[in-house]
Amino acid sequence: MKLTNDQLEAYERDGFLVLPELFSVDEVAAINARLPELFAQRCPENFRERSSDVVRTAMGLHLRDDLFADLVRDPRFVEPATQITGETAMYVQQVKVNAKEAFTGEQWQWHYDFATHHHEDGVPLPLALNMHIFLDEMTEFNGPLIFIPGSHSDGPAPTSLDTVTTSYPLWTVGNDVVRPLADRGGLVAPKGPAGTVLIFGDLLVHGSSANMSPWSRRIFSLIINPVSNHQTTMQRPDHQHHRDFTPVATLAATV
Ligand code: SIN
Ligand code: MN
Repeated sequence: MKLTNDQLEAYERDGFLVLPELFSVDEVAAINARLPELFAQRCPENFRERSSDVVRTAMGLHLRDDLFADLVRDPRFVEPATQITGETAMYVQQVKVNAKEAFTGEQWQWHYDFATHHHEDGVPLPLALNMHIFLDEMTEFNGPLIFIPGSHSDGPAPTSLDTVTTSYPLWTVGNDVVRPLADRGGLVAPKGPAGTVLIFGDLLVHGSSANMSPWSRRIFSLIINPVSNHQTTMQRPDHQHHRDFTPVATLAATV
């Protein structure tokens, strides 16, 4: 699967790209069918919300279920990632589903992923890509991701570690930094049917609000990073940053 020049230019300009309905209804159904069993497991890979027992994010999925082991090798991820980064050797850094359950799913604060990758894992450069599949229809009601277009273009913004707002510690971007970036670039919340893919870079400022709707908002997320840019400190557990830097080999067909 090849991105067009227009898509590559849009990615460079905005810091993200939306690929509507790249995965089929049947493929999404096959992914979603695995989630109840995985979410029911009591294990360190399943982070629960601060104010309820509901799973917020389930990590390490490619090591816990064969379907996800295949999914991370899907050419619909690997080929665009190679085009964007110019690197053929990419490793699987993190594989998760963020659940954001109906009524109870809590916010993700303003942040960009490189702050965590750099501070926690010693990743040298902001080259990793975050590749999502919408596992439910994404609407304005169920807590979609919000991007600040162009917020990647000035380099890494100042951050601080927030360990109190949610159950997941995160290097976040303060309101004083968000305001001018949003005044300049605006805010965009990509919406669309299940199966839509989002690709965004390591410096793009993003967040998402709580899900007060009666509909769940599950996303699959693969973070993929050039092998040449691998983590240098092994501080976080493997499910948060995978320690196997073997280049991903593309599968012909997956789910
Ligand atoms: C979210 O699930 O809304 C945030 C995901 C992310 O920051 O990658
Ligand atoms: Mn993020």
